[in-house]
Amino acid sequence: MLASRRILLIIGGGIAAYKSLDLIRRLRERGASVTPVLTRAGSEFVTPLSVSALAGRNVFQDLFDLTDEAEMGHIELSRSADLIVVAPATADLMAKMAQGHADDLASTLLLATDTPVLVAPSMNVRMWDHPATQRNMKTLKEDGVAFVGPNEGDMACGEYGPGRMAEPLEIVAAIETRIAKGPLAGKRILVTSGPTHEPIDPVRYIANRSSGAQGTAIASALSALGADVIFVTGPADVQPPEGVTVVPVQTAQEMLDAVEDALPVDAGIFAAAVADWRVKSASERKLKKTKDGLPDLSFAENPDILATVCKSKEKRPDLVVGFAAETDDVLKHATAKRKRKGCDWIVANDVSPGTGIMGGSENDVTLITDDGAEDWPRLSKDQVARRLAQKIAEALA
Ligand code: CTP
Repeated sequence: MLASRRILLIIGGGIAAYKSLDLIRRLRERGASVTPVLTRAGSEFVTPLSVSALAGRNVFQDLFDLTDEAEMGHIELSRSADLIVVAPATADLMAKMAQGHADDLASTLLLATDTPVLVAPSMNVRMWDHPATQRNMKTLKEDGVAFVGPNEGDMACGEYGPGRMAEPLEIVAAIETRIAKGPLAGKRILVTSGPTHEPIDPVRYIANRSSGAQGTAIASALSALGADVIFVTGPADVQPPEGVTVVPVQTAQEMLDAVEDALPVDAGIFAAAVADWRVKSASERKLKKTKDGLPDLSFAENPDILATVCKSKEKRPDLVVGFAAETDDVLKHATAKRKRKGCDWIVANDVSPGTGIMGGSENDVTLITDDGAEDWPRLSKDQVARRLAQKIAEALA
């Protein structure tokens, strides 16, 4: 998954620097190229020769090294990578990064680039817990720097707590999440998810029991395969996944607007439980009880987002997947729904109260395509999402 990806690895001065040698090996095994940069303090812990031998290339150390500058200037060095990884990132390196210092090669490279940065902190537990380091971490996160670790455990200095650098394989996984070229790399995929809320007045609304768990898991699985995911979500119970573009909406009309803004896409996955009706004219003021009886609510039909996208002449995605949550005659209703709405696939499931699916962590689906109905075993919603994402990757290949 990391074939031909370029990583600039900055090795700071911490005892965990020895683990970075293993990190280089693991990254190269996966096809990545690693350009190593060793800080002066880093070279107290590992030698330039071992770093360079494992990376299979020159190790850069000095801002003012004429040979290095002639080979590749430091500006070019920082920009020719897909990701900059700082491992181990010491308290001092983090402070320099947070402050924007540029007084050695590592800090200059970090300041002179807009390449994404991943930091693996490593330090004594008290240094990690110190308000200054915590402040620097917060600043760096606000600047868009990603973190992996630190882990909690026994430390080389004899103390116990958070501060151990993440293990090489954990760092590899964090790198893969950011730059791996999965089968969906370069594909733009829209996912709708969650319920919609249709206002009655400023404090009341019509909703449904969708938690958004299945849609969220699908967005996450597609993103893990490298897709660029636009996640249009109603007010769900679960947090949206990391690494996707989140567009929060409340009503069906807002969801349709957001979906139309997101087009064109390569595939659209419509997992949202959209309210079929809205209150015709929602009150701008809170409705009060009256002696005359019940409020007079009349309803209007909401736009059918899935059907609208399927019918779009110019912007219909190559693959459109709808959902059919039914309580009876599941296959019959879902098959008819696929035809009526004009989508390519429909994911049908039985959401009767006894199934525990609505709001639960498992799902029991049948995938209906041109080839017929494929009955999947009962799986976790994450497994359903991964299986569906894999099928989508095959269909778009
Ligand atoms: N859907 C949509 N917009 C709507 C209603 C539904 O995009 N206004 C999508 C859902 O996201 C789902 C599919 O259509 O992918 C089927 O949703 P469902 O609520 O089961 O369909 P309905 O059209 O509401 O059909 P019915 O109420 O007859 O079951």
